[in-house]
Amino acid sequence: MFTQFIITDNTDLSGKINSYTQQIQAEIILFSDILKDEFLIKTTNKFIPVVFYLKKETLLNNHKAVRNLLTVNSNFLSMIIVDCPSDEDVFSKTDLENDIYYNNIEFSSPTIFIARNLINVFSYLQMRKEGFELQYKHNISSSHISKLTRIGMSLGNEKDFTKLLRDILFSAREICIADGGSLYLVEKDDNGVPKNLRFKVSALDLKTSEFIMPLNKQSISGYVAFTGQLLNIPDAYNLPANVEYKFNNEYDKLKNYYSKSMLVVPMKNHTGEVIGVIQLINKKRNFNQKLTPEQMMGNDVTPFDKYSEDLVMSVAGQAAVAIQNNNLIMDIEKLFEGFVTASVSAIESRDPTTSGHSFRVAEFTVGLAKLVDSLDSGIFKDIKFNYDQMREIRYASLLHDFGKVGVREKVLVKSKKLEGHQLDIIKWRFFYLQKDIEAKLNQKKVDFLKNNGSLGFPDYEKKIDLEFQVEKERLKDLMDIIIKCNEPSILEQSSSQLLDDIAKINYDFLDGTAYPLITQTEYNFLSIKKGSLDTQERLEIESHVEHTYQFLSKIPWTDGLKAIPRIAHAHHEKLDGTGYPRGLQNHEIPIQSKMMTIADIYDALTDKDRPYKKAIPVERALDILKMEVKDNHVDNDLLNVFIEGKVFDILSKKSPSFIA
Ligand SMILES: [Fe+2]
Ligand SMILES: [Fe+2]
Repeated sequence: MFTQFIITDNTDLSGKINSYTQQIQAEIILFSDILKDEFLIKTTNKFIPVVFYLKKETLLNNHKAVRNLLTVNSNFLSMIIVDCPSDEDVFSKTDLENDIYYNNIEFSSPTIFIARNLINVFSYLQMRKEGFELQYKHNISSSHISKLTRIGMSLGNEKDFTKLLRDILFSAREICIADGGSLYLVEKDDNGVPKNLRFKVSALDLKTSEFIMPLNKQSISGYVAFTGQLLNIPDAYNLPANVEYKFNNEYDKLKNYYSKSMLVVPMKNHTGEVIGVIQLINKKRNFNQKLTPEQMMGNDVTPFDKYSEDLVMSVAGQAAVAIQNNNLIMDIEKLFEGFVTASVSAIESRDPTTSGHSFRVAEFTVGLAKLVDSLDSGIFKDIKFNYDQMREIRYASLLHDFGKVGVREKVLVKSKKLEGHQLDIIKWRFFYLQKDIEAKLNQKKVDFLKNNGSLGFPDYEKKIDLEFQVEKERLKDLMDIIIKCNEPSILEQSSSQLLDDIAKINYDFLDGTAYPLITQTEYNFLSIKKGSLDTQERLEIESHVEHTYQFLSKIPWTDGLKAIPRIAHAHHEKLDGTGYPRGLQNHEIPIQSKMMTIADIYDALTDKDRPYKKAIPVERALDILKMEVKDNHVDNDLLNVFIEGKVFDILSKKSPSFIA
């Protein structure tokens, strides 16, 4: 079969050049035939050398039709020879491009002359054809290279694992022009030994969830995963008799599909280990073409060629790297999550009364952030948080109080104004004083007996005992006042007055020195107006924010999480600038911190009973938060979203372990 053609209006040409057929190697087509509708030369070649040999009149009368023919058949590489005297200029009278004019040769010329010209013109066209084919191959390769580069880049950027797998499959199908396909991942057992092949995604209409199949040589994809060898199957229904794998045609039967050609490749990581399999089904000519089952059975589906193998292996290699990277990132995230959880648990174990606080604050803050993100109208319509920003909020919330590691435990857990041992010392002092008074009164009794004998002693003893009773009562009253003042609730004016009186009382020690009943330090603690901490201790507690910031700033956060220290740093700031540690103004506080502040206050208020404070009911806690808004401490709009979206209800929907 010839791959080049002569189109002529001269029915005698064939006979004239008959003896040169071997050299010319061209099929002769009559010009009248090409004028028929939809003329096509059936050949699989990309470029077809065509020489027109037309009489002068034919060309002049049909040059538009010739031009049209060449436009429709853009794969023709053509030259025109005109049958007329050599000195005549026919071509310039036509619409045809000059560069396809070869020369004029009269049919009456010697045969050898005509044949020689035809051989020459065809060899010229062959050269052009080879040039074009090289150019075409170059273009295709360039396009595939840029496609592969694009695939590599997009796979490297995809963080959503399911989408990553879909992208891998689509890229492989697109570059190999495959109608269908599936992707499987190798699953290992607890000892790290490959065990199963898990079906993950399919390009076919598979309304099925993930399923697993044994990793052995019995199935096609199992064979590829097991052996690590590529399979290029021209026809799945006609497998060679000696192969170990079988084709499962259940899907075909179920969906009226016909899986014919298959290209199944292993995805190998950098150590050569198979981590998955890409299975491509039915190579077609045009990626967007929708095939009928009949077409699939016929010639519209072709075997995958060697070039497709190379291309899909390249995609599979990149896919393996992307999957491996994705797994590594997930492992790192899991590792970090574990580290954060362990750190937070360790910190909270120092003060069991606040156990679970950080986890709950994280839940509330992320819940609020999701709601704010979802709003398409109102003040927050432009506030959006992407995947990384949500993680940023979560980690900042989990770690917001981490700086409590830098606060002394006795301050952290202090529930009374005096520490336990300080109150014990006062109690012992009172006990000593009582004993001292008792001893002194007993001495009086002895002195009485020495001086007066027993006469009148019973009355004297009664008087002394009464005196002792009064002193004892007085000491007890004083101790009660001290115990009352020691409570962290607001110090009443009357108690404060009595405490001042106690501070002025002195008692005489054995050596006659006068000592104050309570020391200046004890007085300072007991006279704290509100709460259990004095100024120094309060500052120490407040320093936890600075410690948190310092600690978090030392972690080399990835780009998407860089704001964590800044967000956590501002969780005790207030809109009016009266917060700590930096007294930031409203516009200086990140919105993430403002959300966390609401969550933090809400949880501190509603948390279960603590030794020094009762749990506050939800309604009351929300009222207190509203008061914080009135005082310009907390953001009103965020609190409204928190309340209207019932963010505080989130934990009731979680497992109890979260509400620890
Ligand atoms: Fe805090
Ligand atoms: Fe907190």
